[in-house]
Amino acid sequence: MIRPIVAYGDTVLRRQTETIGPDYPDLKQLVEDMFETMEHANGVGLAAPQIGLSIKLIVVDATPFAEEEPKCADFRKALMNPEIYATEGEEWAFEEGCLSFPGLHEDVMRPETVHIRYQDIDGTPHDEVYDGYVARILQHECDHLNGKTFVDHLSSLRKSFLRRKLDNITKGAVSVDYKMRFPNLKHR
Ligand code: NI
Repeated sequence: MIRPIVAYGDTVLRRQTETIGPDYPDLKQLVEDMFETMEHANGVGLAAPQIGLSIKLIVVDATPFAEEEPKCADFRKALMNPEIYATEGEEWAFEEGCLSFPGLHEDVMRPETVHIRYQDIDGTPHDEVYDGYVARILQHECDHLNGKTFVDHLSSLRKSFLRRKLDNITKGAVSVDYKMRFPNLKHR
């Protein structure tokens, strides 16, 4: 089932999230819904707060980057309780977007490599190292679990320049072809 994606401005995107286990109610269905919601919106990552749930769960599909980076070809995963515990390498700029910010794309600087611990949805623990696009997406999605979004990485000057655009997203004054929930939607 496709779930509505919460837009920028909703307080759920600012909240800290809770650790979950494989016994979380209807976890398999939830993960399926998150993949379906992400794919319908042509996203490469989605975090639970973006569908209104304050829990540590993300889905990532890096396969659209496989042509540029062959190792992305098999990275399509749900990660429970992911935690990036170390980063290394040079920071590099990449134009990011976010399904909670339709129409907004901005260069964000992030380190090249991440060390991440997480569990898969069966509860099996993993400790892995990623770089390139996978590391980029994982950093973006893990930020969501800490109440942070990609615009928090921009300078305050850049953010003030984007103020009107951001307000329009919160009000739903944007064109978007997937289902969303806007905090300040003006009803006509
Ligand atoms: Ni995002």
